[in-house]
Amino acid sequence: MAIVENSFPWTEKYRPKLLKSVVGQKHIVPRLQKYVEKKSMPNLLFAGPPGVGKTCCAVAMAKELFGSNFSQDFLELNASDERGINVVRGAIKDFSRTIPLGANFKIIFLDEADALTTDAQQALRRTMEKYTGTVRFILNANYSSKLIAPIQSRCSLFKFKPLRKEDVKKGLEPILANENISIDEDAIDALYDVCEGDMRTAINYLQAASSMTDKVTQDIIYEVSNSAQPKDIINLIDECLNGNYLKARGYLETLLFEQGLSGEDIISQIYKKVVNFPDEKLDIKTKIKIITIIAEINFRLVEGANDRIQLEALLAQIILINKK
Ligand SMILES: Nc1ncnc2c1ncn2[C@@H]1O[C@H](COP(=O)(O)OP(=O)(O)OP(=O)(O)O)[C@@H](O)[C@H]1O
Ligand SMILES: [Mg+2]
Repeated sequence: MAIVENSFPWTEKYRPKLLKSVVGQKHIVPRLQKYVEKKSMPNLLFAGPPGVGKTCCAVAMAKELFGSNFSQDFLELNASDERGINVVRGAIKDFSRTIPLGANFKIIFLDEADALTTDAQQALRRTMEKYTGTVRFILNANYSSKLIAPIQSRCSLFKFKPLRKEDVKKGLEPILANENISIDEDAIDALYDVCEGDMRTAINYLQAASSMTDKVTQDIIYEVSNSAQPKDIINLIDECLNGNYLKARGYLETLLFEQGLSGEDIISQIYKKVVNFPDEKLDIKTKIKIITIIAEINFRLVEGANDRIQLEALLAQIILINKK
């Protein structure tokens, strides 16, 4: 495998060029295709978690609308630079003043719109009004509620969701075929397990794994994603539930010191396993108590407390809860 070829990010190489190549988001893509068909659209507000197709949809839609005039009629900006007021005053106004070439409007795609200060949002609102004739905005925000009401009410809201397993699989298919990757079903399951519906993450881990080996396995996916093997996490929790502190601590030490995982990585994996345990394995009352403790320890880890001490305290508390 040529190194140069493999170093170009696959997330860019395989970015969908057309709306129909965007996987999942079935409640969104057909509505955007309607706008393309009618060559008209309102201002849009895209909200949702990272890596699920927001930028893909905006770019693909603009390419379909504008064709060869895409680069003149589409402007992508990031609102978090200088908290945004200069972006609104400068780039947005300059772009809005000129005439569209490919359709009867241009598109400004404003990433991280929720990072704009209230003042900048007020300025944006006025700009949106002033150039309604020639410019449509697509605002991108992780939290749409951080935008002031007058902006929200000027946009149609599109809520993007984490991708489902079958969508991630479908999105990976062309990459697997084109890059000639040999991968087994378990490894695809592992990819989904670590990416949690974020396609960018899934593609990045796949690329990292395939640069290490010709045959991508579950173990390699967990290794490149810096995650513990699910069985190690389950063993650790099982030992706690059986009241065996020393054995649980042994598993914890392997994860921390041999595999080099961080406390936050480990606790979020413990959380994921605990919430998904069936009632026969862990009754709901005990589960609730354990989750409360996981939340407390997680907060301490985020605040910078010692990984080892906090995780050992977690193990100890799970044992105590289960004894009661
Ligand atoms: N629904 C999807 N269909 C196909 N590919 C996708 C999809 N979502 C994400 N991808 C892949 O992941 C990469 C990142 O997606 P995109 O830039 O659209 O994420 P985003 O939702 O805008 O995330 P962020 O909030 O971080 O900006 C794309 O280049 C593409 O390869
Ligand atoms: Mg984006």
